[in-house]
Amino acid sequence: MNTTRTSPLSGKVAVITGGGGILCGAMARALGADGVKVAILNRTAAKGEAVAQAIRDAGGDALSLAANVLDRASLEAARAEIQQRWGGVDILLNGAGGNHPRGTTATETWQGASPTAVTTGPGSFLDLDEAGFRAVFDLNFMGTLLPTQVFLPLLLGRPGSTVINVSSMGAYRPMTKVPAYCAAKAALNNLTNWMAVHFAEAGLRVNAIAPGFFSTEQNKALLWNADGSPTPRAKKIVDHTPMRRFGKPEELVGALRWLCDDKASGFVTGAVIPVDGGFSAYAGV
Ligand SMILES: NC(=O)c1ccc[n+]([C@@H]2O[C@H](COP(=O)([O-])OP(=O)(O)OC[C@H]3O[C@@H](n4cnc5c(N)ncnc54)[C@H](O)[C@@H]3O)[C@@H](O)[C@H]2O)c1
Repeated sequence: MNTTRTSPLSGKVAVITGGGGILCGAMARALGADGVKVAILNRTAAKGEAVAQAIRDAGGDALSLAANVLDRASLEAARAEIQQRWGGVDILLNGAGGNHPRGTTATETWQGASPTAVTTGPGSFLDLDEAGFRAVFDLNFMGTLLPTQVFLPLLLGRPGSTVINVSSMGAYRPMTKVPAYCAAKAALNNLTNWMAVHFAEAGLRVNAIAPGFFSTEQNKALLWNADGSPTPRAKKIVDHTPMRRFGKPEELVGALRWLCDDKASGFVTGAVIPVDGGFSAYAGV
């Protein structure tokens, strides 16, 4: 019996923003191994190129393009290259995102009565830098809207085409300290629903994956002390995750493959799929 199976995704074309990062890099490599032609769009081209090279080394087809998800012109330039090379796009994975200290408070809750209170200045909610807050919000919200607007002309009309956004547990209930990021991801869930409805009759499915907690570059300062020991916040996260650990990037791949495959998930649109070790199911008691 011949047990060799071809992936149902083989031959499709995927655009992955933030594909040079940890989570989307893992997802890009998985799709590359499935025979998907992968265009990695990353602000830092070298990070995207490392992932593209890994896909090519494994026998796949991939290219890396420098693009800023907040800069329409750079996205349009990337679109022109992808269109010339592969003609169209079947999968848009909007993965670029992340938090930044400029959109982050110093304390989890207002400490006004404490003698060491951070009530004004950097880290105080009252003095959160407006531009910093906006930059984090824009990266996580406009940084999905813009690539979607730019690439949709290459997806619409292709049977089975799909958009997959990357949300967060912070979208459901905001995490302390990170208001801009969480508000943007909540808005992103809402946009995912809106787009799913808007494009359903056009045959385009729009869903999101909401990862739980994964230890990556963007959150390492919040999770690990300089000596490698977990911060109190990391301990809190694991305590609130019924599976009692952080996720591994490759654990997002199953949900991604399912959402990309219209034979498997063809009636699924407007869904936000948690991949979170039970975090969102747990009331904390
Ligand atoms: N790490 C987690 O625990 C976690 C949890 C939930 C959601 N997420 C989400 O997953 C996605 C990937 O996160 P990650 O942890 O792999 O982070 P990461 O920092 O490793 O990857 C993000 C990538 O996006 C790129 N990028 C940043 N700004 C960009 C811009 N303006 N234009 C183009 N590219 C840009 C970065 O260069 C980087 O390669 C993000 O949307 C993040 O919010 C992460």
